[in-house]
Parts: sequence; C-alpha cells; structure tokens
Amino acid sequence: MKGVILAGGLGTRLHPLTKITNKHLLPIYDRPMIYYPLETLVKAGIDDILLVTGGNNAGDFLRLLGNGKEFGLRHLNYTYQEGEGGIAEALRLAEYFSDGDSIAVILGDNIIEKSIRHAVNNFKKQSGGAKILLKKVEDPWRFGVAELKGDKVVNIIEKPAEPKSNLIVTGIYLYDHSVFDFIRGLKPSDRGELEITDVNNMYIEAGKMTYEVLDGWWTDAGTFESLYRANSLAASHKQEDQS
Ligand code: G1P
Repeated sequence: MKGVILAGGLGTRLHPLTKITNKHLLPIYDRPMIYYPLETLVKAGIDDILLVTGGNNAGDFLRLLGNGKEFGLRHLNYTYQEGEGGIAEALRLAEYFSDGDSIAVILGDNIIEKSIRHAVNNFKKQSGGAKILLKKVEDPWRFGVAELKGDKVVNIIEKPAEPKSNLIVTGIYLYDHSVFDFIRGLKPSDRGELEITDVNNMYIEAGKMTYEVLDGWWTDAGTFESLYRANSLAASHKQEDQS
C-alpha cells in the first residue's frame, strides 16, 4: 500500500497567514503542519509516499523534508497541483505514482492523536473497495457528514446546513485502485471543485465502502479556530509524552 498526502490549495480561509506561504508549512506547536500527516502514514507502516502540493512556496516542502530522512524514509515523491480544483482533482495526480496499488490518502491539515495502523491492516484484509475514518465532532456542518444504517455508511453529505448526525468523515481515506476510475466520472460541484465526498458516495453506491471510528482526538487545521485547536492539542500531547 502506498501513501498520498494532499497539501495543495491556497488556504484562503487562513489569510493573511497563507498569503506568503503554504498552509501546510505553518507551525503546529513545535513542528510544521506537514510533519503530522507524514508521521501518521509512516507510523501506519507506509513508507512509499507521494506529497501533492501546489499554490505558494511549493519548493519549500523539498527544502524542509528532502527525502524524508527525519521520518526514517529513504525517498519521498513530490508532485504539483495547478490551481485549486479540489481534493479529488489533487488525488488524480497520484494515479501514475500508485501504479495499480491501493492507497492511503491523508489531507495535509488533518492531525490525529493515535495510530491508524489497525484501520490500514483491516482495509488490507477486505477485498478492495474503500474505508473511511469517522469522528464525532461538535461542528459537523463544516465537514462531510456520514449517515449510518446498521453497520454501513449509506450516504455522505458535504457541509450540510442541518447535519443528520455529528459523525463526520475525516480526511483519511483508504482506496483501492478503482478510485481513479471514479474520479474520471466526477463532475465539478457548485463550488467548482471535484469533491472527495462524491468519490466516497460512488464507493457507497457500489457497496464497497467500510468505515471505522477514529480512536483518540482528531482535528483539521484549515480555519483560525481549528488551527488554534490543533496547536493546543499537539502541545498538550507533547507535554503528556514528556511527563
Ligand atoms: C474536506 C472534505 C470533507 C472532510 C474534511 C476533513 O473539507 O471535503 O468532507 O470532512 O475535508 O478535514 P475541506 O477541509 O476541504 O473543507
């Protein structure tokens, strides 16, 4: 299984912080944001990783991460997303890299407390398809919201005004290689982007989606509030580790 980190976009919700740099280079407590998703993949046993970046200062990722030596990697792959076409469009750039293998995808601003190794191992045991990781949050309207029936996800609604539950889809997705066929069938949403939620709903319709609820805390970091929360969660986690 290969890993893909999506770290493009213009981060406009964080202006002026992102006016001159990429969101994923901003600090989260004592490290740049991009360190966290990279560590999540490496800790899950994934060591063949592609970083999809774009927007401002893309070259800084190379200066910062090099070949990923600090993370125990021998090699790190990079590609560049032009413009802001959405998460699914960024993922499309990983088709060549994935080379028919399954992929673990993580959004560059998703920061978690615990390991996803267990979910990755369970996904490897299922016969293809996809797995998403869900989490209960207090502000579900900001995310893709999952509707469950029994032990199945039956629908995901992107940023609903009136969420049916507070169980949201985190930015960690495990896909077989058919994800790229699904992406080819996408049409841009009202905000002009190729939505990852549409891809996930295609897997649901095909009866090939499983889910797990993520253990430990989770946050994104794409708004001032969530960036602040990510910093304080990472700080208290570090302090717990040291005490
Ligand atoms: C994206 C996805 C959304 C998901 C979220 C997780 O939202 O579209 O479904 O819940 O990431 O971080 P965005 O951060 O692009 O608004």
